[in-house]
Amino acid sequence: MSPPQRLISLQQAFEIPLGKANQYYSRHVNDKLLSLYSILGTGNLEYTSARGTELKLADGTTVLDFTSALGSLSLGHNHPRIAAAERACHDRELVDMMKVGPSRIQGVLAYNIAQLLGPELDTTIFCVTGAEAVEAAMKLCEIVQGPKRRKFLVATGSFHGKSHTTLSITKSGDYARGVLCGLPPESVLEVPFGDADAAREAISAHSDSIVAAILEPIQGQAVVVPPAGYLNEMRNLCKDAGILLVFDETKIGLCRTGRMFAYEWDAAAPDALVFGKALGGGKRAISVVATSRELFRKAYGKRQSCALQTTTFGGIGESCAAAIETLNVMVDQELAVQAESKGAHLYAGLQRIQERFPAFVREIRGRGMFQGIHLRLQPRVTAAFGALDTKTVKSATAAAFINYMLRKHRILLHFLDSDPDVIHIMPPLTASTEELDRLLYALEATFEAGLVRIASNFAQHLGDQALAFLKSRE
Ligand SMILES: Cc1ncc(COP(=O)(O)O)c(C=O)c1O
Repeated sequence: MSPPQRLISLQQAFEIPLGKANQYYSRHVNDKLLSLYSILGTGNLEYTSARGTELKLADGTTVLDFTSALGSLSLGHNHPRIAAAERACHDRELVDMMKVGPSRIQGVLAYNIAQLLGPELDTTIFCVTGAEAVEAAMKLCEIVQGPKRRKFLVATGSFHGKSHTTLSITKSGDYARGVLCGLPPESVLEVPFGDADAAREAISAHSDSIVAAILEPIQGQAVVVPPAGYLNEMRNLCKDAGILLVFDETKIGLCRTGRMFAYEWDAAAPDALVFGKALGGGKRAISVVATSRELFRKAYGKRQSCALQTTTFGGIGESCAAAIETLNVMVDQELAVQAESKGAHLYAGLQRIQERFPAFVREIRGRGMFQGIHLRLQPRVTAAFGALDTKTVKSATAAAFINYMLRKHRILLHFLDSDPDVIHIMPPLTASTEELDRLLYALEATFEAGLVRIASNFAQHLGDQALAFLKSRE
């Protein structure tokens, strides 16, 4: 007989001391990830609640969170209108799970999305995660194009998710190490991002065999904005060669760049648009593929095919309710306009910092409320870490920077392991100008304090064991 199970109740879970919860996380989730969080300084951050940009800590202090949970918190933490939308669902005992009949609320969300995107993208496929939606877009394109076309054109530096098939088209980091990946290598054509000539060449060499080109309008890993006109040129190249075009805006869509969708800066509508993350208002997991009715019907418009693209949790009630309210908040509060003007303020401040500290800041890049500080690798900073390879020095420098910003200025930022020399700045779109100014002040003060000193102190504080852990690829 199995021993009696003693489960922790939800009430106890809410109140469990952080140390104990971390023990469970370490033992039952991922101990090495927890070690990385500890190096950044977030492992023991005892946050108890959050609203907007602010995380409230158990000791009564606050931290300003400029990570937006890597894109999901465009409305900030616990936006009151999203919380109210959830309460309204509970109060009316919304039929959340209905898989054998139409969902009223799903139809309304799809209608709203069509209002925002227009007739070229007026049909919605509901998913849960970004990777799932990217795969749904790939599948749609494959079915529409038929068996003669079997290759996807993707860009170096791309990120489209960590699922088995999206790893085939993710061309940043070493996320795919040791994984067979869903597509055979010959089905993926990789071209440099932002280089329409290179894409033209690849297309003319393989034009009859390419299903679709899949691109992020701004690459989210290293924060790379392509040259003006690139997306439009890709749109035209694909159209001329009968290749479908998918834009993946999982991370940067929905107002962040200063337009409802980032592609609007530069190009006409793609054949399929993927977005998610922020769509759930920071409370729900929901992602979508928007496409044309014509393409959708080609793929799924028959009696035999109409049920081939559904998932259990894709578009369940409360996720759709949160998404409906999110889009309404975005339109009512003109968050795209706000992101453009606040983003210009942010960019100007970051530029000033770059001009003051060119030895440490190579470039500021991004658009609207998605900016990256591209750090310059300085030999004196490298020396602080002793004998480490370049990639590890970049990660260690970024970690030192983030750890310092958190401890000294109570500001949370992030970087990604694939491109560790870029510090990401992703404020909630609801962040106030005062909060942005606090961020700019803290960044400037951090560069003033000196990256060499910060890196040396960090290396000493971490010790050899933690540095070896950072270096380890095992
Ligand atoms: C552009 C892009 N596509 C896809 C994904 C995958 O999304 P998810 O983590 O929800 O699967 C991400 C995640 O960051 C992303 O940035």
